[in-house]
Amino acid sequence: MFVYEKKLQYPVRIQNPDPKLASVIISQYGGPDGELGASLRYLSQRFAMPYPELKALLTDIGTEELGHLEMVGAVVHQLTRNLKVSDIEGTPFAAYFVDHTAGVYPQFASGYPWSASTMQSTGDVIADLTEDLAAEQKARLTYDNILRLAKDDPDVTDVIRFLREREIVHFQRFGEAIELAKQRMDQKNIYFTNPAFDK
Ligand SMILES: [Fe+2]
Repeated sequence: MFVYEKKLQYPVRIQNPDPKLASVIISQYGGPDGELGASLRYLSQRFAMPYPELKALLTDIGTEELGHLEMVGAVVHQLTRNLKVSDIEGTPFAAYFVDHTAGVYPQFASGYPWSASTMQSTGDVIADLTEDLAAEQKARLTYDNILRLAKDDPDVTDVIRFLREREIVHFQRFGEAIELAKQRMDQKNIYFTNPAFDK
């Protein structure tokens, strides 16, 4: 069960619209390494996780990623509100505008709609946690790329830096999680969950 708290995890108050920037930040809403995929990955993987501490970790991080999805949506919305057509013409946002006007839609920066094929949930402890480690680094990298393009609007970059830092914290927590999982498994079985050993 989820209980909704009506505030953002970190405040988003953007003064100046910037549709060009919104057209790249949307990738962290519904892109290949964005927050929608992150939240669904962890909140789906948790059901089959056999260790209670790690099930709780997936629930915690998955829930936080939903909060990040909300923040990224707020950023995209605030960058694209009160626009005139002349603000959009000739920018990369024009293609998005034709399809979605100024609604927040889960898609890659390249325009491809969000797809569950960007994430995995296998029930294999090591496979899932290893994917989670990679996912956090790819999300961190995407935020790095956004910062390279965002340049100098602190209203935007402060929020993106906060989100980037959380990806690093999640990577560290998943690193601890994989060590704990290995301790719980048969150390002599280098595959950890080779089906030949499963009863
Ligand atoms: Fe994350």
